[in-house]
Amino acid sequence: MPKLIVTTREGETSEIDVADGLTVMEAIRDNGFDELLALCGGCCSCATCHVHIDSAFQDKLPAMSEDEDDLLESSDHRDANSRLGCQIPFTGDLDGLKVTIAPED
Ligand code: FES
Repeated sequence: MPKLIVTTREGETSEIDVADGLTVMEAIRDNGFDELLALCGGCCSCATCHVHIDSAFQDKLPAMSEDEDDLLESSDHRDANSRLGCQIPFTGDLDGLKVTIAPED
């Protein structure tokens, strides 16, 4: 199973196995990382699934939609590696992806 490497806001890193068909947000949430609130359940309207993605994986990620871009714009913690976890299906291509949960806005 492909692995996702998650760093929490406190700087703790763990490796999780991700089942087929999940998004990055679902993989993180379903593995007990409560600090990723994902309040809207993945419909791209809350930005509480904001993560920073290892820049080495940037070109393997799906393009950002206008809605995702707008939502991220509302965060004080946006940087060049910001994405919404619910907008990234976790495919085998992303095996070993490192993400850090963004600070709360
Ligand atoms: S879970 Fe709400 S925008 Fe991703």
